[in-house]
Amino acid sequence: MLMRWSESVIRREFEQRFQSPPAFVVRAPGRVNLIGEHTDYNDGFVLPLAIDRAVWLALRPRGDRQVLAHSLDFTGSTTFTLDNLTRGNGGWAEYVKGVAWALQESGHRLRGWEGVIAGDVPVGAGLSSSAALELAVARAFVAVSELPWDMAAMARLGQQAENEWVGVRCGIMDQMISAAGRAGHALLIDCRSLHTEAVPFPAGTTVVVLDTATRRGLVASAYNERRRQCESAARAFGVAALRDVSSAHFEAECSRLDEITRRRARHVVTENERTLQAAEAMRRGDAEAVGRLMNASHASLRDDFAVSSRELDIMVECGQSHPACLGIRMTGAGFGGCAVALIHREQTEAFTSTVAARYRAETGIKPVLYVCAATDGASVI
Ligand code: GLA
Repeated sequence: MLMRWSESVIRREFEQRFQSPPAFVVRAPGRVNLIGEHTDYNDGFVLPLAIDRAVWLALRPRGDRQVLAHSLDFTGSTTFTLDNLTRGNGGWAEYVKGVAWALQESGHRLRGWEGVIAGDVPVGAGLSSSAALELAVARAFVAVSELPWDMAAMARLGQQAENEWVGVRCGIMDQMISAAGRAGHALLIDCRSLHTEAVPFPAGTTVVVLDTATRRGLVASAYNERRRQCESAARAFGVAALRDVSSAHFEAECSRLDEITRRRARHVVTENERTLQAAEAMRRGDAEAVGRLMNASHASLRDDFAVSSRELDIMVECGQSHPACLGIRMTGAGFGGCAVALIHREQTEAFTSTVAARYRAETGIKPVLYVCAATDGASVI
């Protein structure tokens, strides 16, 4: 288990290392997606929240173009010059360099800095520890270089760093919610325009993340295959992206798709509609409706998009069988990782202990459950 960091601990760690207080402390959160899965790379809609687990960076500017970053969670430091960025052998330092590269590629003049990085977003669980690191680094460069902070532009640069420097294909959701999250709210993001709208949680509800403690290999290749299938479906419909296909349009013309492509496309088309309906239900405080849409999302991800797993399905069934549960679904890319549930807040303790025990009894695996609060996006604190 990662240490739970806090602002005061990060400041103290910086002071011990550099014998002076940091000039800035920045924080960028991880995320969990309530609904709208595998829709972001189809220019569609997502409804994630930034969570109370984050990456922190305490730093001070340097007079030159060197960057010195020390990780408190992973061994070691990285040192590089902004004048000569070269790819290393992976690991956390590549995210720092990748963000520097993307910022410079887009024409920003950066200053060097030195600092310490720490985080309590579990790595590899599907809660976007990498997007949190990217946005923390972007926020740090913007602070020391005295640049304007444009949330959408910085999210796009974080995604570019991940796509082109680190080499992981992902959509815009994770970076956008880490940049733009709002405390107490989920964020409806239009992944085409990057327009956002904060929607409040229905009264008396809370969000629980349920980590199956299973991880699958081949997630990247399966993810890229789904993307290709979605692109080919969009071509068949003659549109730029599946975002442009309504369910009526889908029903009228889906016979031109082969069986697999049809199922993949049906998930995306219906998921976009469920996401918009869920945002609408949140606005009117209808927690039951949000929960029903989450349950339907899981069925669609399992049956049509085929990105669930045995353990995720068991976790979802365990959750759904508890009376406190309004809705539960797998969340993130899938094939393992986490489920997310919306539950009645006053029964949080009963829900988490019962569901964890049931899941463990059925799978023999000890899950990890997090009760999450929705927090603000990346900021200097
Ligand atoms: C991963 C990607 C996101 C998104 C989800 C699926 O988390 O990083 O961009 O595509 O999968 O919704």
